[in-house]
Amino acid sequence: MRIGVDYYPEQWDSSLWEKDAEIMARTGVKIVRMGEFAWSRIEPQDGIFDFSWLDKAVNIFARYTIKVVMGIPTNCPPLWLYEKHPEIIRIGMDGSKVQLGIRGHRCINSPVFRNYAERMTNELLKHYSMNLAVVAWQIDNEMRAYQCTCDICKNKFRTWLIDKYDSVDGINKAFGNCAWSGEYSDISQIQPPSDYPESWQNPSLCLEWYRFTSYSTADFAKEMMLIVKKYCPKIPVTTNVCFSGNTANFYELYDLLDFVSYNNYPPVRISDNPDSYYSHAFHLDLMRGIKEKHFWIMEQLSGSTGGWTPMSPALKSGMLMGYSLQAMLHGADTVLHFRWRTALTGAEQFNHGILDHSNVPNRRFFEFSELCKRAEQMSVLDNTFIISDIAILYSPESEKALEYQPQTENFSYIHQLKAFHAAFTHFGANIDVISPDSDLTKYKLVIAPSLFINNKKETENIYRYVINGGTLVLTNRSGVKDEHNNCIMDSLPTVFKELIGAEVTEYDPIGNEVHTIRDFAGNEFVCTQWCDILRLTTAKAYAEYNSGEYWCMPAITLNRYCNGVAYYIGTVCHADFYESFASNLMMQTRIPKLKGLPRGVEVTTRTDGTDEYICFFNNSGNPVSIPLPKPMYSVINSMGRDKLELRPFEVDIVRK
Ligand code: GLA
Ligand code: ZN
Repeated sequence: MRIGVDYYPEQWDSSLWEKDAEIMARTGVKIVRMGEFAWSRIEPQDGIFDFSWLDKAVNIFARYTIKVVMGIPTNCPPLWLYEKHPEIIRIGMDGSKVQLGIRGHRCINSPVFRNYAERMTNELLKHYSMNLAVVAWQIDNEMRAYQCTCDICKNKFRTWLIDKYDSVDGINKAFGNCAWSGEYSDISQIQPPSDYPESWQNPSLCLEWYRFTSYSTADFAKEMMLIVKKYCPKIPVTTNVCFSGNTANFYELYDLLDFVSYNNYPPVRISDNPDSYYSHAFHLDLMRGIKEKHFWIMEQLSGSTGGWTPMSPALKSGMLMGYSLQAMLHGADTVLHFRWRTALTGAEQFNHGILDHSNVPNRRFFEFSELCKRAEQMSVLDNTFIISDIAILYSPESEKALEYQPQTENFSYIHQLKAFHAAFTHFGANIDVISPDSDLTKYKLVIAPSLFINNKKETENIYRYVINGGTLVLTNRSGVKDEHNNCIMDSLPTVFKELIGAEVTEYDPIGNEVHTIRDFAGNEFVCTQWCDILRLTTAKAYAEYNSGEYWCMPAITLNRYCNGVAYYIGTVCHADFYESFASNLMMQTRIPKLKGLPRGVEVTTRTDGTDEYICFFNNSGNPVSIPLPKPMYSVINSMGRDKLELRPFEVDIVRK
């Protein structure tokens, strides 16, 4: 386990670099990321490159045996380039040029921009490919599925569609363009979606636009990656992502990159409401699931966040260290904290790093020093892996399509995944969050909420899983759309009807209305947002509606299918239901449960094939006491324990 920091030599007087490196080395920092926004310093004029300052910084860190992740600074082209080639400026969805002065203004499909980006990457690589201090490369920064409507992007989108559908007629048919006289008679009429809300527009167009913009981002990343590989085929390449708004399809973006890296900013405010208790661990499990291997945190929360928003509260004592360790427990091998010192200039002056503006060692710095020591103790986990019995399937396309056409008040795709994740977390289970086309054979339980967009390969994968004995959970809004994001003339959940042994005869998007359900054991739970009215063919009812118009009708079903079992949840519930359901599912599938875990305590179990380590993280904000089933050896405290007392955000690891 390795701790690092994000560092911006260009933002500090060079007289500070040596001192910073020396303190970092003493503190236990092993790696720094730099360069990702420094284009104007590396290429101050067209074709004139200046690496002298960056060499100096890299050499200083190397002298202190601190490694470097080099950022390729394509996110922020310099002003001279925009001035010379204004055609590279991104055009927004409203058709107007993005105003310069923030970042990420460039159109990644512009060939002129791509030439400059390639030249920059080639020059950087020529210069640093033999430098042993540089151990990884980061492409760009926090790329999204950029929506640019310049002529180049529009034309590329048109060609991309024609490639896929052969002709304008093919596109008309796939999009169902006869609705509202939307038929194209010429390719030039194809336009990206407009600036109006997506729900007013053709959902087929919206989804294809998302696919195209995501593809464009992945294609740009691939091109940059190939340049790095030309010079140093063995050095790993990544790009960093966050999980908010307009993300590219992660599976596609990382397909050809060596590893995933995530910008991890967990919430500073802890909620006591069990329905809003969703641990950030969900995102970490998702990041591990993208390539189904360990990942890095490229930016880790280190202080009050601000700049884009008013400042958040300060980090509570233990939070800086705890969230960083939490990421490690879920599969981050390397965690770089954002940032070493808070900026004195620029828009992010109040987005706090480890050190404050004063540069005087503060509470967070001392906690960070402790973290560096703790990370070394955690080396017992270096060759261990998280093996999960449970998988939750995450589909970026269903997520997007459900955003375009909100199904009912408050319904959220990702919320459903998180609700299940929280429920299994409560019983101390390892959970993988993976793609619906991943190999599912190794799981005892697979949860696939709202697979709204049908994908033949994924559907077959899911059927195969159940046929071979797996236990599956599907929920409402599954199988609603074909691959073009059009509805299907069949009763819901269409392709999954046979699997669940039931069909939806009617549905009721009840929004914020509240009803109740009663399970087979007589337990009552609140349900809301949605009611599927189900007709059972081979399935049995697991729960029925217990109030209102649908009283006594099945709400949740269970069907034995070949060697497996498929559950279907036709409504949306609160946390207490998901916990009860998770508990039953785990019992049925013989997945061990850790009972009596205090609320907010998260557990991951890791193994190297011989030893097993149980890792506890207190994410509750309160001190907790956790009884162990038998005395176990604490790797952190080097002693035997029969119970663990954890302060807020504290971690302990015991050998089983
Ligand atoms: C993102 C960016 C960083 C910085 C942080 C601030 O993750 O990648 O450059 O803006 O947010 O939180
Ligand atoms: Zn463009």
